[in-house]
Amino acid sequence: MKYGYFDDTRREYVITTPKTPVKWVNYVGTMRFGGIIDHTGGSLLCKDDPALNRIVKYIPQLPASDFKGETLYLRVHEAGGYRIFSPFFVPTLDPYDRYECHVGLGYNRYVSEFYGIRTEITVFVPPGAMCVVRDVRVTNLRDEKVTIDAIPVVEYTHFDALKQFNNADWVPQTMQSKAYREPSGIVLLAQYAFMNKDRQINYLTSNLPASSFESDRKRFLGENEYGTWKQPLALLAPELGNYEALRGDNIGALLHPLGTLAPGETRRLIAQLGQAEGPEAARAQAATYRDPDAVDRAFEAERAFWDEYLSKLAVETPDPSFDSMVNVHNPRQCYTTKNWSRYLSLYQLGLGERGVGFRDSSQDVLGVIDRVPAEARALMEMLLSVQKRDGSAMHQFNPLSMHANEGDSRERDDRPHYYGDDHLWIVLAVCWYLKETGDLDFLKQEIPFYDKDRHGSPLEKGTVLEHLKRAVAFTKKDTGAHGLPLLGFADWNDTVNLAAGAESMFNANLYGVALRELAELCEVLGDHAAVEAYRGDYAAMKKAFNDAAWDGEWFIRYFDADGTPLGSQKNSEGKIYTNGQSWPVISGFAEPDRGRRALDSVHRLLNTKNGIKLSWPGFNGFDPAKGGVTTYPPGAKENGGIFLHANPWVMIAETLLGNGDRAYEYYHQINPAAKNEKIDEFECEPYAYPQNILGDEHPQFGLARNSWLSGTSAWTYTAATKFILGIAPTYAGLSINPCIPSTWPGYTAKRVFRGAEYIIRVRNPRGVCKGVTALEVDGRRIEGTVVPIAPAGTRVQVEVTLG
Ligand code: NOJ
Repeated sequence: MKYGYFDDTRREYVITTPKTPVKWVNYVGTMRFGGIIDHTGGSLLCKDDPALNRIVKYIPQLPASDFKGETLYLRVHEAGGYRIFSPFFVPTLDPYDRYECHVGLGYNRYVSEFYGIRTEITVFVPPGAMCVVRDVRVTNLRDEKVTIDAIPVVEYTHFDALKQFNNADWVPQTMQSKAYREPSGIVLLAQYAFMNKDRQINYLTSNLPASSFESDRKRFLGENEYGTWKQPLALLAPELGNYEALRGDNIGALLHPLGTLAPGETRRLIAQLGQAEGPEAARAQAATYRDPDAVDRAFEAERAFWDEYLSKLAVETPDPSFDSMVNVHNPRQCYTTKNWSRYLSLYQLGLGERGVGFRDSSQDVLGVIDRVPAEARALMEMLLSVQKRDGSAMHQFNPLSMHANEGDSRERDDRPHYYGDDHLWIVLAVCWYLKETGDLDFLKQEIPFYDKDRHGSPLEKGTVLEHLKRAVAFTKKDTGAHGLPLLGFADWNDTVNLAAGAESMFNANLYGVALRELAELCEVLGDHAAVEAYRGDYAAMKKAFNDAAWDGEWFIRYFDADGTPLGSQKNSEGKIYTNGQSWPVISGFAEPDRGRRALDSVHRLLNTKNGIKLSWPGFNGFDPAKGGVTTYPPGAKENGGIFLHANPWVMIAETLLGNGDRAYEYYHQINPAAKNEKIDEFECEPYAYPQNILGDEHPQFGLARNSWLSGTSAWTYTAATKFILGIAPTYAGLSINPCIPSTWPGYTAKRVFRGAEYIIRVRNPRGVCKGVTALEVDGRRIEGTVVPIAPAGTRVQVEVTLG
């Protein structure tokens, strides 16, 4: 592979050249403290909220070769001056003899060799710490002694990320730095906005004495910034200026003389960039990770977290790229989406009010409940607290202020200011959590609704169960001319924004799924009246949907307020929508014959070798009556692009109808780990799902964008584990009902469920896709597909035969 390879034994992807088509990134830490690190050493870090407490100035739109947020310079003393280069390649762009970026679980390790100097740098956030550590080892590979200085550098942003770019007077007037030198010579270089000087300061420090520092970008680059990041003029002088910035563009730069290294000798520098509540707190905090042993222990703790996280499910199938995704990369991405929602990536820049998405995070929960159920529960508690009393939900919220808003629906006065689907997703999240954990007490927890009085106090609270009931009650009432749920500003597809009164078949089906979940839950709770009521509502909506939405070969996707269909043979653009077909199968609204025809239409009209398009044909021109979808050219994003999030729903639907071959075909064609051959066309990271790939109506068919933060992650993981491998928690036990490719002779898996370990062996002697003919639990035959819940701490052998 041109840019790197998977090292599955170390659970790393190793990038072997810095010149990847776009930046390939990794995430460190969590939103408590952490962010993105790119494969050439740049970083974008924040604490608690990227919009309201951002630390590093990283501008992704700048060219790949530009300095971005952080780097390290090495300065080698040579006859007549210095050789200055960055072991990260960027921003000095020197020729290298070796370049590796090991993208690991919660860390990157960079190994490079320039001019006979090897540098190994491990970047990670120690679990629970409010700093990122850059653990640097510099080795002299030359056969002569060499004197080296190491200068870590960071460029700060104002904590209010948007103001940084919007107010170029106020922001620089407020930015300041102060240096604290210890008797040992170690320097802690603090940076803060003046208003925060005693309560929120960033700091750069290390474990070694610094002979000098700089905190002003203009002085560091030199000559009124006609000096460059490629060759900062301050580094040409023996020492930095020791200037404590009073305003301006603040940086942190610490010059560490590493001394003279004999051939083969290594020096270790541990730099830290952190945030604390004041200078004293910073000094105390910084002391911990000046101790190399503490850093080693923290790195082991980070590893231990991932070992534990990944230990909940391990599978072995005939497809190594499937295993690689399901065992490592997809769960890692699920944890990332759980932590960051759609807030901070190289594509969603976390500057303004986007925050945590209600719909997005409700779905992210589905990808992590088997591994970190307590964290999933904590996230659901936050989500439920921005649900309104009428059962609908605020679209997004700021995690630091918990201030919520209606998202893009605010942008058009002539459209409804709510989304028709948001609130329904949380029903799915809570119910799947309950099936995974059995934690029915969660239903009794009281959580306030979002509506507040004029003092900001919640007007009402309700149990979690009450929140769920209100969610479906909202949609039951919020229906249009065909008795189908209203669209609101939009449903899952944010960009189809029809005039008020439009109906959404997506909302109808999601409502159906939510009703089925609630009916099942109420059965467990013994509330038979509620079971009957929800089943009645389900049947009524199923009828309304089938009466109105069948178009002959597939299901219609929307009705305008005046009853005109969208996603129908009658349309010349947007004739057919993928979600319009997969969701009726998932909800059970489609009877098998219609479901089969609908899914075959997807295969015939929407499938491509790079994934399934969201719709076809694309709209070819802006039309405010349709909304955002028409801002894209045909083939891009929601306008006929391959919107990956919708792909696993088709996989799931195919498994529900028993076609494991097609489900797997759809899985494999979007597996980034199988993209090695066409990575120059794909461009994004091969170890994370992107959100979108350009469709075949676009000249750049196959080009991926918006990697990492996408519902693709949780849903592809769900499709692979719960529906293709068929290992799905239920209230009664672990259901094992695979729907695999007919060519697979079987698979094995280890799954932890409610504290017990299930060793699962599936055999497929007759080459079928689906159909359990025998299920044995510890040698005993069981009827059906559900393995009963075993006592925590035990191990259960499960033998499944298909036929
Ligand atoms: C991205 C948004 O984050 C998600 O909520 C939405 O469902 C998709 N776009 C599709 O429009």
